[in-house]
This record gives sequence, structure tokens and C-alpha cells, in this order.
Amino acid sequence: MARFWNVFTLRNLLVLSLAINVSFMLRLVYVTVDIKREHMMAVDRSQREALPMQGAYLSVSSATSSPSLATFPDGDRDRAINLDHGDPTMYERFWQQEGDKATIVIPGWQSMSYFSDIGNLCWFLEPEFARQVLRLHKIVGNAVTENRHIVVGTGSTQLFQAVLYALASQDSEEPVSVVSAAPYYSSYQAITECLKSGLYKWEGDARSFAKEGRFIELVTSPNNPDGFLRDSVLNRSGGVLVHDFAYYWPQYTPITSSADYDIMLFTVSKTTGHAGMRIGWALVKDREIAKRMVKYIELNSIGVSKDSQLRAAKVLKVVCDSCESSSNTTESLFEFAYQLMVERWQNLRVAVKHSGMFSLPEFSPGFCKFTGRIFEPLPAFAWLKCEEPIEDCESFLRSNKILTRGGRHFGVGPQYVRISLLDRDDNFDLFVERLSSIRKDNLYQHMGE
Ligand SMILES: Cc1ncc(COP(=O)(O)O)c(C=O)c1O
Repeated sequence: MARFWNVFTLRNLLVLSLAINVSFMLRLVYVTVDIKREHMMAVDRSQREALPMQGAYLSVSSATSSPSLATFPDGDRDRAINLDHGDPTMYERFWQQEGDKATIVIPGWQSMSYFSDIGNLCWFLEPEFARQVLRLHKIVGNAVTENRHIVVGTGSTQLFQAVLYALASQDSEEPVSVVSAAPYYSSYQAITECLKSGLYKWEGDARSFAKEGRFIELVTSPNNPDGFLRDSVLNRSGGVLVHDFAYYWPQYTPITSSADYDIMLFTVSKTTGHAGMRIGWALVKDREIAKRMVKYIELNSIGVSKDSQLRAAKVLKVVCDSCESSSNTTESLFEFAYQLMVERWQNLRVAVKHSGMFSLPEFSPGFCKFTGRIFEPLPAFAWLKCEEPIEDCESFLRSNKILTRGGRHFGVGPQYVRISLLDRDDNFDLFVERLSSIRKDNLYQHMGE
């Protein structure tokens, strides 16, 4: 009997161990296949989302919230590169380095009321957010904040709409004209026209605007898409200027003076990279205009997310602290982004030169009062021109799986495209490599002929 059990156990043990090994190996194969499938699905998803959607400029970006999902293996060098949106994912690396510094915890009972500061004209403005905004402008020196009302918005996109509402006359028969010098930020037209409002009317390029009557001129400086610093072009009465300073920060352009205008718009999206937080702010001189902007936001969304404002306050605090730190080991957000932009513009210019099929704007250097450096502007977008025989730059690049936004969206011709330079490193590097490989001698191959 004992012998029987011995033989039985030995045989069974062998079979059992074989079965365990096989099942373990199968499990390994399944897990590997699953991981690969997950990855392929993520890539496939991002490629599908990367396809340009006509007119859907504010559509969901190709980026996922998890940076690890958005990086690609080397074998995927043929993938589509979506640089259509100005999604500022290049900043993720900085905030990862910062670890928990900008983490906030909001208990379930906090931020429940609609109201933030009932004594303030902007009653939904979180006082700590306002404090950090003022502190940041003071440190950077890019805008005058004295005698201004701060109006917070769900991104500067909402503030732009609030401005249109605030400046339009409810009693006038005629809508107020809205203009901006071409090439202008493509969303201005889309937003102004989307509700077919009788209050305001998009009239396109400010340089060719000759209509009588009231107008709003949008001055974007540095400009999206071409990166140049701008002044108003309509030098006449009857108009109100709105300055969009989304990019007037020292990683993109020298801060030459403290901007001092009646209505100035800013956004955390391009300042710190937190586009998903949806927070912007306006500095407004005139109390009545500020009040009407607040009224619009009240009607539109009954205020602005307190959670987002608290998070924005913390993020701005970390940025301010990093600027004020005397430690050699602390890198400020602006220094991180400036160094990255220098590197990216250098690489892009080398690629453009190597290709010979494209050109880029040239900028004059300026003295930055914030950093004490002299440098050329490093815009968030490349305003790329395709040289002949390429006529439609957006289509040409799309056939090379580089997705950009064509000149027509910005009020100019199809030989131009706007390309975001704020994407993650792997996307940007692959883009530069691909652009550099398009050359006159192999152009027809790149045109698919
Ligand atoms: C010039 C300009 N203004 C406003 C915005 C919108 O910013 P936000 O994300 O705060 O709505 C952008 C975004 O690309 C922009 O380029």
C-alpha cells in the first residue's frame, strides 16, 4: 500500500507539476498578449482621435491622462502625429518632477456653496486664486494689476465670450463688429459665429475692416498662430481693444514691459500647462465691463469651478515659490519650459533647413526683464510655410501623417499651417525627424505620386 502511494504520488506529482508549468506559461502568454492588445488599442485610439475633424477645433485631444499610455515604442515610428491642437502636454514632465508639491486634497464638505467671496464684484472668485494671480504678475512683471478687477473664467475661452457679451450693446439695432488682424486665432471666428448672435458679428481681418460703427479688436500678443508680438492695427475711435495674453510669459517671449490695457485675458493652459483645469482670468479696468462679464458667467455657468480654482491657486503658488527660491536645485517652471522651447526651436530650424521645402518666421531678439536674458521669441506654435510646388500645406503634411491646422482657419492661404510645439517629447522628436526627411529630391514620393 505504501509502495502504491509512493508510485501514485510520484506520477501524480510529475503530472501536476507539468500541468502547473503549462498553465503558468499559458497565463504568461495571455497576459503578454493582453498587455500588447491594450497598448495597440491605446495607440489605435490615439490615432483615430488624431484624425482631423473639420471644424471641431476644441474636440478631445489625442492625449490620455496617463503619460505612460501616451508614449510609444520605437517600432511605432510610422504613426500619425497630431500637432493640430495646442495641447500643452510637454509640461507634464515638469509637474512629474515636482512630485506632490502641487497636490491638493479637498474634503467632501469643502467648496460646496456656489459662492466664494460675496463681497467681491466677482462673487465666484476664490480669494486664494486671486492672491496667487496677483503674486505671479508681480514676480514676472508682465501685466499691471493695480486698479483692476479680476474676473475668473472657465478657461479664457469663456472669458472671451463674456467680453463679447459685456461689450455688445443690448439696445443697439446693429451688432458690434468683431475683428482681429490675420492670421488670427481660429477659435475667435468659430466662437463669435457659433450662436448666430444678434449682439456681435465676426468681420474677419482687422486690416481690411472699413465698416463704420462700433467694433471690438482682438489683439493677441504673442500671436497665435505666428508668434509675433502685436499692437492694435485699427487706429480709430469707436472701438474697444481686447488683449489676449495667453502667451505673454517668459518661456515664449521676452517680457519687455508690464502690459497696461483695459481688458487683458490670461489662461493657466499655456502658463503652467494645466489646460484640463479650465481656468483663465481677466484683468479689467472698467467696473461696469467687469460686472457685465460676471453677469455673463453667472448666466452661462453660475460661476466657475471652485475645485479648479483651488487647484490653480496651488499650482500658481508652486510656480511663484519656484521663481522666488534661492536654492540652486530648484528649477522654475519658466526655466524648464524656456530651455525646452530653445531646444525645440533649434531642432525645428535645423530640420526645416535640412528639408529645404519649408520656411519659418524669423524673430528679432529682445531683452527680458524677468530673466535678464536677451533672446528671440520661442512661440508655442510654428507657423510653417510650404514652398512650391506644395500648394496645400495641411493636406501635404497629412499625407505624411503629420496633422496640423491649415492657414484658411486663421484667415490666410493654404500654403501655411500651424503646428503645436507644446506636445510631449516623443511626438515632437518624431515630427522633427519626419519633417527633416521630406526633401526636394524625394518630394514626389512624399506627395504619394
Ligand atoms: C490665443 C489664445 N487664447 C485663448 C486660448 C484658450 O485658452 P483656454 O484653454 O484658457 O480656454 C488659447 C488656446 O489655445 C489661445 O491660443
